[in-house]
Amino acid sequence: MELIKKEIEINLEDEILKLKKELNAVILAHYYQESEIQDIADFVGDSLELAKKAKSTSADVIVFAGVHFMAETAKILNPEKLVLLPDLDAGCSLAEGCPKEEFKSFREKHPDHLAITYINCSANVKALSDIICTSSSAEKIINKIPLDQKILFSPDRNLGKYLIKKTGREMLLWDGSCIVHETFSERKIIDLKIKYPDAKLISHPECEEPILMHSDFIGSTSKLLSFVQEDSSLQFIVATETGIIHQMKKAAPEKEFIPAPPEDDTCSCNECPFMKMNTLEKLYLCMKNKYPEIVMDEKIRKKALLPIERMLEMS
Ligand code: 13P
Ligand code: SF4
Repeated sequence: MELIKKEIEINLEDEILKLKKELNAVILAHYYQESEIQDIADFVGDSLELAKKAKSTSADVIVFAGVHFMAETAKILNPEKLVLLPDLDAGCSLAEGCPKEEFKSFREKHPDHLAITYINCSANVKALSDIICTSSSAEKIINKIPLDQKILFSPDRNLGKYLIKKTGREMLLWDGSCIVHETFSERKIIDLKIKYPDAKLISHPECEEPILMHSDFIGSTSKLLSFVQEDSSLQFIVATETGIIHQMKKAAPEKEFIPAPPEDDTCSCNECPFMKMNTLEKLYLCMKNKYPEIVMDEKIRKKALLPIERMLEMS
């Protein structure tokens, strides 16, 4: 019997747009997604903006082009909606480096401390926290905590150290870091600053202290994007995941953006391997199959919701 092979040529963008209508879906994307995903998304933003969009959307389905903790946050805020993530394995080194049992004992060792936890963590860790924060809201939130209240900050020690400097508050830090932001080479960045004397170094606060020390501006992804639009400089060395450069080029096409290099020349370590697990193909398939979806235990969801709501109120 002759086997008949059937190949179908499809335009992924068109199909995704069709599915979006059929499902009454909204596509939310983080700046670290590949350019074609950012271009098809309804909204691209930093973690705080994405959480706010997830809370306010009237769509029935949220397609989250980001990493697991971001989609999980959307589900915590929208238990009745279908929340899809193109690849369930799209994790985060910060979330992975903070297992719930260890976090629980950390809290138990310091019962008089308030736990302020970076949104880059699992729902289980959120459920054990008092207040969630993002890189764009952390400083504001910490400044609202009474001065005599002791604080535990988890899981990013670099962001934690940066916040201690900014707020003048002592905080006990969880020892975690982001595999992308700890990769930048101070030596190579200094070389770039010499080669491009007019360029400004702009960095995400997840970077290590020596990089932040040399920076002209430090902020969340959205704040970095606004800075390059508002600042008069024409060249920027960008010390965060390279995906954001797509929006920077769109917003300021006359300016030059130089990705901060990693120490190791042989890797693309300044790209987040988790964020890049999502592809346009997987985005299409997850909408077509309505799978993989984020599923969560209702008890954990309710507990995790409280500290997220506190963040939304305080930021
Ligand atoms: P932002 O909230 O600044 O977008 O950061 C998210 C993140 O994962 C940075 O690595
Ligand atoms: Fe997590 Fe770092 Fe990737 Fe952000 S860039 S999602 S912090 S691993």
